[in-house]
Amino acid sequence: MKVYQSLTENMLTVNMLLSVFFLPGALADNCGGLTPALRITTPNIMEALTGSCLQIPCTYEPEVPEYDSSKTIYGVWLKGGVNFGDNPSLVIFNSSGSINKYSPNITGNLKEKNCTTLFPDLQTSHAEKYYFRVEKGDYKGTACADPLQIKVKDSPWSPSINVPSDLKEHQSVTVTCSAFTPCPHSPPELTWTLQQDSVN
Ligand SMILES: *[C@@H]1O[C@H](CO)[C@@H](O)[C@H](O)[C@H]1NC(C)=O
Ligand SMILES: *[C@@H]1O[C@H](CO)[C@@H](O)[C@H](O)[C@H]1NC(C)=O
Ligand SMILES: *[C@@H]1O[C@H](CO)[C@@H](O)[C@H](O)[C@H]1NC(C)=O
Repeated sequence: MKVYQSLTENMLTVNMLLSVFFLPGALADNCGGLTPALRITTPNIMEALTGSCLQIPCTYEPEVPEYDSSKTIYGVWLKGGVNFGDNPSLVIFNSSGSINKYSPNITGNLKEKNCTTLFPDLQTSHAEKYYFRVEKGDYKGTACADPLQIKVKDSPWSPSINVPSDLKEHQSVTVTCSAFTPCPHSPPELTWTLQQDSVN
């Protein structure tokens, strides 16, 4: 009985801590306590390489039943925040062609709820949280709860090498080597360096 009591006390403490920490958290999602009108699915955090492009796989889902995809759809990317009414410079791309900083390219078909985007030539100044927005007729929604964090690094990812475990003398062997790339248009260049003196 005593054990049970102390357990409930612990749970109470945990619950109170959660409510203390979760309320500011709900505001920190950038929706100002409102239900987002748009949800997107992306990797959430992506790493890019300086000077290389970054392909962002992205799909979106408007949270309104009357969404009618027959009208012209504009895809918008916001950088660093969602409140572009007060701060218009947050808008870095509008697929209408009106705004095009960084010249990203929405390669996905917006009518099929595909917001896949290609950012060319990433620089460290591009590292930020990005928010996607859809405007279509009367419907306007920002994915305020689903930021995409872009990180930009200077050196490429280390390649990984796959060597079969049952190596035999005088037999040919397939060794595969691969490296991650965020940019489908510039696959990583892999170079083999053979060291003669290490061959027995
Ligand atoms: C995007 O472009 C459309 C068409 O020019 C315009 O009506 C809309 O206000 C723009 N949206 C943003 C967020 O810039
Ligand atoms: C954007 O992507 C489309 C489809 O992949 C391509 O035809 C177009 O040339 C691209 N535009 C730019 C500015 O890269
Ligand atoms: C979205 O479009 C891209 C092309 O930009 C394509 O590679 C991808 O498969 C599409 N995703 C879905 C879920 O249809």
